[in-house]
Amino acid sequence: MTGCPTDTASAASPETVHESEQSRDSALIFRAPRHADVHAIHHLVSECPPLDLNSLYAYLLLAEHFSSTCVLALTNGNPQGFVSAYLPPGRSDVLFVWQVAVHHSARGRRLARLMLQELLARPNLEGIRYIETTVSPGNRASRKMFEGLAAALHTSLHETSLFGRHLFGGQAHDEEPLLRIGPFHRASPLVGNVSMV
Ligand SMILES: CC(C)(COP(=O)(O)OP(=O)(O)OC[C@H]1O[C@@H](n2cnc3c(N)ncnc32)[C@H](O)[C@@H]1OP(=O)(O)O)[C@@H](O)C(=O)NCCC(=O)NCCS
Repeated sequence: MTGCPTDTASAASPETVHESEQSRDSALIFRAPRHADVHAIHHLVSECPPLDLNSLYAYLLLAEHFSSTCVLALTNGNPQGFVSAYLPPGRSDVLFVWQVAVHHSARGRRLARLMLQELLARPNLEGIRYIETTVSPGNRASRKMFEGLAAALHTSLHETSLFGRHLFGGQAHDEEPLLRIGPFHRASPLVGNVSMV
């Protein structure tokens, strides 16, 4: 997390409500993460292998300094999904997506893409033209999700090597190539026009 710019929570959108289910009670709420959410986020990520589980402190930093580029999806106050992202230093048109987690019970309805859509629709991210992330070659669900996002944004996805397996030392960690999606404009039909499947 070192070297990332400081964002302020005030720039994030307040709450976005998606009436995704029949019942108003089960409506999805998207909002920036807060300090009080961090234990639940930590638990959610712990249940979403192969994600690396970061320390509670790291998630507190995300909620404190990067909430305007992170999103939490909740139903009835229960976290269903979480995306952590940030603006790489000096590259204000790039949103780097760090972790994407969707609870098992909420999978299969493109919630990950919906969370990314919510981020791209925020006023503070109006200038974003590229999404970058790293995804291991074997993570088919994540790759399919980002390929679908690129298609919905009517743009391309390019893959290059970034973090080789050797960089993770003795850990049993796969390589993490870089996926770069873009350029795109937020006027794309995706933004503000994606619903749960
Ligand atoms: C990756 C993840 C966030 C996607 O969650 P989601 O929004 O519920 O995604 P969906 O189940 O709707 O699937 C998205 C796409 O991937 C496809 N997909 C899902 N699982 C798949 C699998 N095992 N193999 C191939 N494709 C798969 C779906 O068919 C869908 O494709 P479509 O949009 O063309 O219909 C979720 O699976 C997750 O939390 N995984 C564990 C953590 C993780 O790997 N995070 C990403 C790290 S970069």
